[in-house]
Amino acid sequence: TSENQPYRTSYHFQPPKNWMNDPNGPMIYKGIYHLFYQYNPYAAVWGNITWAHSTSTDLINWTPHDPAIYPSQQADIKGCWSGSATILPGDKPVILYTGIDPQNQQVQNLAVPKNLSDPFLREWVKSPKNPLMAPTPTNQINASSFRDPTTAWLGPDGRWRVIVGSKRHRRGFAILYRSKDFVRWTKAQHPLHSSKNTGMWECPDFFPVSTNSPIGVDTSVIGPSMKHVLKVSLDDTKHEYYTIGTYNLDKDTYIPDEGSVDNDSGLRYDYGKFYASKTFFDSAKDRRILWGWINESSSVAHDVQKGWSGIQAIPRALWLDKSGKQLVQWPIVEVEQLRMNQVNLPSTVLKVGSVLEVSGVTAAQADVEISFEIKEFEKAEVMDPSWSNPQVICSQKGASVKGGLGPFGLLAFASKDLQEYTAVFFRIFKGQDKYVVLMCSDQSRSSLDPDNDKTTYGAFLAVDPIHEKLSLRTLIDHSVVESFGGEGKTCITARVYPTLAIDEGARLYAFNNGTENVGISRLNAWSMKAAHIN
Ligand code: FRU
Repeated sequence: TSENQPYRTSYHFQPPKNWMNDPNGPMIYKGIYHLFYQYNPYAAVWGNITWAHSTSTDLINWTPHDPAIYPSQQADIKGCWSGSATILPGDKPVILYTGIDPQNQQVQNLAVPKNLSDPFLREWVKSPKNPLMAPTPTNQINASSFRDPTTAWLGPDGRWRVIVGSKRHRRGFAILYRSKDFVRWTKAQHPLHSSKNTGMWECPDFFPVSTNSPIGVDTSVIGPSMKHVLKVSLDDTKHEYYTIGTYNLDKDTYIPDEGSVDNDSGLRYDYGKFYASKTFFDSAKDRRILWGWINESSSVAHDVQKGWSGIQAIPRALWLDKSGKQLVQWPIVEVEQLRMNQVNLPSTVLKVGSVLEVSGVTAAQADVEISFEIKEFEKAEVMDPSWSNPQVICSQKGASVKGGLGPFGLLAFASKDLQEYTAVFFRIFKGQDKYVVLMCSDQSRSSLDPDNDKTTYGAFLAVDPIHEKLSLRTLIDHSVVESFGGEGKTCITARVYPTLAIDEGARLYAFNNGTENVGISRLNAWSMKAAHIN
């Protein structure tokens, strides 16, 4: 199929055909991982939304099942939208999801497995009491902005809590509900959190992270060495923001340590394409895992023609950085089972102006790890204090714009004569009292086809290049470039559709377009086997 389907992924999750958006209800039950997702069974465009279902034992190879949740009740007759799973005591998974009722109101529903001894939990039964949470004339809930319940957490008072995304005028809300039995839910008077001028909060996520270990904890864990994370997906910009903060148990509110989702300095899981994500606690390996949807950068007409749209990012383990100021993400180790034919470059100097081919890998389906070593900082350009938006700097100073210290990095999906390439690179600037590292993913030359969104992405990377290594890991898979800078401190995902750099036509290079040499202390690249995906 790769002849006529060069953009289908080989190890990133996708259904055989049609439209996919948000990951839903990820969980592990009796050693089997479940992924549900927003799916249109009939077309490659959004609509007729049901919960499709796949299971896995390693989060990389997947077996498809029949749709798990589809319109069948008044409370979801016009669609089964996003939601989350909670594992109740006694190892009993349940799902809360948004249904669209006959009046087009968004309401929250419960579904439970029909048969807990089916290892795949293929059939789900809906509560006859649905909807369990609904807009009413008195509760001030906006019926078209009330969706995406989270995994619930259990408070010390024995009551479950869940948040649902919403907005009132321009203020985004995480509406809080409480319940003793998971069926009768009462809206709390105050939201868990809200923020002005952010618009609708889709797919909120709220979970604890340990302050002294990368080990993940169950969503209900509360303790002295815990912080909480609140993430929201902003419908207005299709970007996700998170803050790290404190969960105030007495007031049942969340207070960010600093910053807020209502200013631009907000932190993002990913500074490229990554949306409607959610985490779950993997009790088998004590880690918190993040799933996120990566949409297409091609036109709707192109999606219809190829017959599919949307992929999921490789699941990422996520934990709190040592600084306590940001999260760190890393592709789950299981993806490494797909690595083969390792290419290892001896440490070398990447000279000014050089383009070094990494040969011997299937460059359209690869995993690359590279570590740069910077010894000379003299040529670093001075940071202009007005350059506050990293994406703008990356757009103005793409890979082809010669710099001082950088741009240096990788050319993925490069054609033989470099007519096409997607450049993932760093530039180091001299800031006020430290060096500032900029990480960019430049799609501007990714395809000769003009009909794609080739927006350049960028973000700062909290690495001190004098004392720390500057690393880049990139997962390349036919139409996706998922990059992790500084051991996972900054992530940027891009979708690209090369016309020449397809399959065997794709090459991989390291490049330095700065005026100072940089060292490569380590470069490992692997061809990736195809995963069994549905
Ligand atoms: C996010 C979203 C959710 C909604 C679902 C519908 O992409 O808009 O808010 O539940 O998709 O498919």
